[in-house]
Amino acid sequence: MGSTTAAVPEVALPSGNARPMPAIGMGTSKYPLVHETTRDAVLAAMEVGFRHFDTAALYGSEPPLGEAVAEGVRRGLVASREEVFITSKLWCTRCHPGLVLPSLRESLQKLQVEYVDLYLIHLPVSLKPGPTAFPAKREDAVPFDFEGVWRGMEECHRLGLAKAIGVSNFTTGHLDKILAAATVPPAVNQVEMNPAWQQRKLRAYCAEKGIHVAAYSPLGGQRWSGSGGNAVLESEVLAEIAKARGKSIAQVRTPADR
Ligand SMILES: NC(=O)c1ccc[n+]([C@@H]2O[C@H](COP(=O)([O-])OP(=O)(O)OC[C@H]3O[C@@H](n4cnc5c(N)ncnc54)[C@H](OP(=O)(O)O)[C@@H]3O)[C@@H](O)[C@H]2O)c1
Repeated sequence: MGSTTAAVPEVALPSGNARPMPAIGMGTSKYPLVHETTRDAVLAAMEVGFRHFDTAALYGSEPPLGEAVAEGVRRGLVASREEVFITSKLWCTRCHPGLVLPSLRESLQKLQVEYVDLYLIHLPVSLKPGPTAFPAKREDAVPFDFEGVWRGMEECHRLGLAKAIGVSNFTTGHLDKILAAATVPPAVNQVEMNPAWQQRKLRAYCAEKGIHVAAYSPLGGQRWSGSGGNAVLESEVLAEIAKARGKSIAQVRTPADR
């Protein structure tokens, strides 16, 4: 059986030794955190041209993603691990200066790789050190040491264990705090972004500071959405555009995608 591959545009990241990031990636989060099918789903995605995979310590998908990457190399779907762009994330219970590097080392072990292409602080939230648990308990929240945690991220970058470093779910106010402390500025801010949640202020700020904004839930998050769950897939405007073009709503591109 033949396979079709599509060329995916790439985004140059400012971090010195980072390779360009494929602009379209595949997410591996699932709730409940059960990953029986993740390895095969990643392999199928690789077969049709995906080269960027998004995981996190929280998702529990690092082991099957790592297995898929190794298997993808064995099967010749990719020539080597270097062809794949892996993003992982630091969970809130590890958002403490001394826990950042050990947490990345654990992720690398689970992924069976020597480095991640991009390492993100998952949320601007620090929880008491402990097991990776979700949802978080409000009483476990502690003040976020922006400077100390970012120093830990920079250490990961300096050691070559994370080719680029960044953040996720950060507002302009949180980014101000990181930038005030940073020697290596964040390369990426991964946030929910879609036609119903366009992040105009954040995008303008990040454009000015040279931070790439990456979108998650481009069709609207179903459980956590700032845009209200079905606002994208049930949008009348998008339905009209899709009908006029003979496409599905999921296939309609908007300025927020660019
Ligand atoms: N940094 C963060 O905090 C954060 C937060 C959320 C997500 N993420 C990342 O982003 C990834 C993607 O998340 P997501 O929210 O976009 O989840 P998703 O599971 O990819 O999609 C969200 C919804 O869109 C629907 N959908 C997907 N493709 C569709 C299509 N072609 N036509 C119609 N509906 C379609 C899905 O329906 P079905 O359920 O029927 O498939 C689901 O209800 C995650 O796996 C994770 O890696 C990061």
